[in-house]
Amino acid sequence: MKLILFSGHHFERDPFIESNKAYGHDLQFLDVSLNKDTAKLAEGHDCVAAFTTDKLDAECLALLAGYGVKLIALRSAGFNHVDLEAAHRLKLQVVRVPQYSPYSVAEYAVGLMLTLNRKLHKSYNRVKELNFSLEGLVGFDMHGKTVGVIGTGRIGSVLAEILSGFGCKVIAYDPVPSTDLVKRLKVSYVPQAEVFKSSDIISLHVPLSPKTRHLIDEGALLSMKKGVMLINTGRGGLIDAHALIEALKSGHLGSAGLDVYEEEEGVFFEDHSLDLIQDDILARLLTFPNVFLSSHQGFLTKEALHNIAKTTLENASDFEKGRPLQNLVVPLV
Ligand code: NAI
Repeated sequence: MKLILFSGHHFERDPFIESNKAYGHDLQFLDVSLNKDTAKLAEGHDCVAAFTTDKLDAECLALLAGYGVKLIALRSAGFNHVDLEAAHRLKLQVVRVPQYSPYSVAEYAVGLMLTLNRKLHKSYNRVKELNFSLEGLVGFDMHGKTVGVIGTGRIGSVLAEILSGFGCKVIAYDPVPSTDLVKRLKVSYVPQAEVFKSSDIISLHVPLSPKTRHLIDEGALLSMKKGVMLINTGRGGLIDAHALIEALKSGHLGSAGLDVYEEEEGVFFEDHSLDLIQDDILARLLTFPNVFLSSHQGFLTKEALHNIAKTTLENASDFEKGRPLQNLVVPLV
């Protein structure tokens, strides 16, 4: 099958080329992103493999359909960058990679916790400057601390398991509690307000939806323990960034580890080192020494990249061979 990858990153090439040995698709990599202006590059291809930064709006999809594309294979779990209704109308099938490695994101969340707690980001810079002082680097034992996990699906469950190994007391909120976590790891499910009130560290692992948008707002932040650490590897929109800045300025929030940011589109995943920063909220967040911000890299492990490539190619083969599409994305009606 002729498959074209838009927004192809260097780190994706080897996993795709390696995995494709088992599938034999005709692959073309492009580093340009997909939108209505670049859609013509897909002409003559049956399948477009898109990244989360590609803009698959109705106009772009209509052009793709006109150029003969039949399948949109998303190299992601999320699909909020695709106009699914338009795709349906245009008879374009959309498939995705529903899961690739919950370990990648859960382990990254723990990395953020340890970085902020033990101030690794500060000591790294200090030692480079030959400053070997320990002043200001005091952390705390994770053992015995209460960690609140909001959302115990694939990623939240793995996080609960890792933290149990640290000797943390794990409390959680999820409308669908996991009996396995309760039985095996003694995780206590409590109301969300209780997670906010009792946790020393809070980590977010819920999907972004109208219901979860600004889950962490001014009220939620004020209800948390003074000095709490907040970790977000979910989606930027889960946190009201204005309220976050106020809570950091007042000292109520102890620290924040953010792998995602509400206005990350057009900024994250790209090198802007020669540009002037236009987003004042992002600029303010970057001034706090107790904020660690990264560019949506929680998923970025070899294993996850391999699984993304393999599932994308498998999805294309299913389509080509007329097999049922296990990872089909359908519009909600
Ligand atoms: P999942 O679908 O397995 O689990 C989500 C859980 O959240 C479910 O158990 C669900 O019941 C629960 N939930 C839904 N609404 C809730 C609410 N209001 N309060 C508490 N719990 C709620 O999803 P998975 O794979 O664990 O991923 C979680 C999120 O992580 C994704 O939605 C995505 O936004 C993010 N993610 C981030 C990545 C990164 O690179 N930083 C990579 C992959 C996913």
